[in-house]
Amino acid sequence: MKLLSSISNRRPSSSLCLAALSFIFFTTILKLSFIKYLVIGPITREQAKIPQEGDREELAGEKNTAGIPFAVGRMEGCDVFSGRWVYDEASRPLYTERQCHSIDPMTNCQAYGRPDTAYLHWRWQPHGCSLPSFNATFLLERLRGKRMLFVGDSLTRGQFHSMKCLLRDFIPSNTKSKKRFTVPDYNLTIRFHWAPFLVTSNCDHPRLHRMPDRIIHEYPGTIEKHAERWKNVDVMVFNTYAWWKPGEKMKIVRGNQDKTYTELMETEDAYQLVLKRMVSWLEKNMDPNKTRIFFTTMSSAHYRSTEWGGKLGGSCYGETTPIFDPTYWSSASSKRIMQVVREVFGSSKVPITILNITQLSAYRKDAHTSIYKKQPYNLTQEQQANPISYADCNHWCLPGVQDTWNELFYTELFFPQQHAWIYLK
Ligand SMILES: *[C@@H]1O[C@H](CO)[C@@H](O)[C@H](O)[C@H]1NC(C)=O
Ligand SMILES: *[C@@H]1O[C@H](CO)[C@@H](O)[C@H](O)[C@H]1NC(C)=O
Ligand SMILES: *[C@@H]1O[C@H](CO)[C@@H](O)[C@H](O)[C@H]1NC(C)=O
Ligand SMILES: *[C@@H]1O[C@H](CO)[C@@H](O)[C@H](O)[C@H]1NC(C)=O
Ligand SMILES: *[C@@H]1O[C@H](CO)[C@@H](O)[C@H](O)[C@H]1NC(C)=O
Repeated sequence: MKLLSSISNRRPSSSLCLAALSFIFFTTILKLSFIKYLVIGPITREQAKIPQEGDREELAGEKNTAGIPFAVGRMEGCDVFSGRWVYDEASRPLYTERQCHSIDPMTNCQAYGRPDTAYLHWRWQPHGCSLPSFNATFLLERLRGKRMLFVGDSLTRGQFHSMKCLLRDFIPSNTKSKKRFTVPDYNLTIRFHWAPFLVTSNCDHPRLHRMPDRIIHEYPGTIEKHAERWKNVDVMVFNTYAWWKPGEKMKIVRGNQDKTYTELMETEDAYQLVLKRMVSWLEKNMDPNKTRIFFTTMSSAHYRSTEWGGKLGGSCYGETTPIFDPTYWSSASSKRIMQVVREVFGSSKVPITILNITQLSAYRKDAHTSIYKKQPYNLTQEQQANPISYADCNHWCLPGVQDTWNELFYTELFFPQQHAWIYLK
């Protein structure tokens, strides 16, 4: 693990007054190569420490983060998305449901009767390094006067709600809106925009969007219609997955504004078209010198307990421990879709940081809302008698897994990893 921070800020100290003049001469000549040595030279394990957020000397570095908006340090040689969950009662959860007055009732499991609490205490531990701790003040100071936007489906909405909880001490407790809030002292605005397919579709109504027959619009202008509200943001986090059905055909309207036609297409191919359209919009509209763009990969659902050695007919309902098999992968997470993500974003002209939360979420069969949430409709007696029939193994309890997504977002925003940063090609 190496963390390259503002090492370049340090000047060689010379206690020899006589050498002052030649020292200036020396540094002027050799500054470049000297900085280069410090930045890319060998760093021992002892030197390579995670900076504390208060440590301004350490964080003020610009050289090795040059050109990456908001970055203050660098996390290299460690894949923060590869790791394990460790039980840590002392430091998790990051807040309690009482502390966060605005947990969405759809995700507030404790308030809706979840009897067990162990699921609250797992901390994500990357192999080979530790995540910097989430410091709300640090984030707010760096995003003063900025606009942050979450775009996508209900999983991204959960991430937005988690962010609201992580910043709870700085937002008025009477903040009611489910879609936006401002952190007054820092004039930071954070919004969520429902766009489950990114392009327009027949599922775009914020509430009435449960369509058995989904139709997406994939012709010029369909991103733009949503994206009117994405312009002028400084940090954008987006996703799209929950509404796609890999392995099935997707109804897709193509063509141009004058003439459109409907086509049935493999979901993976349609997904690729939509991501490409998204990337062209980002390339046209986002300034990589000022903005940062993040894509959250597919969240993992847990509807088939046989996949983790449970009994037939089971789901996440009643699960109280994570999965510890490091190779576990949910069949609900399409590898083909993951490949499309890699290919399309890998050839983007604007850098898109991938928040690859699929694997770490896949381990957390215990962390879904299950039956412990406000139900969107009244349950029938049959349902009540058989909780598995209505358990939600898709969304996540808060506090919980999505706080970790945001810890990783925080890490990538301020201490980007080399490998997750996709450079201009
Ligand atoms: C959090 O960040 C602020 C501002 O950078 C700093 O003053 C404070 O010491 C940090 N807190 C911790 C616990 O590191
Ligand atoms: C707050 O930030 C917005 C941009 O998000 C900016 O337009 C506005 O002028 C800022 N207001 C103040 C009082 O600084
Ligand atoms: C970003 O900044 C670099 C260096 O200052 C400059 O060369 C480049 O043209 C800028 N890109 C855009 C899109 O403004
Ligand atoms: C995300 O991580 C998984 C394994 O943890 C890997 O298989 C996949 O390729 C990664 N996705 C991307 C887009 O990098
Ligand atoms: C749901 O149940 C509550 C109380 O049991 C009742 O007041 C309400 O009218 C019901 N709503 C619907 C849509 O049936």
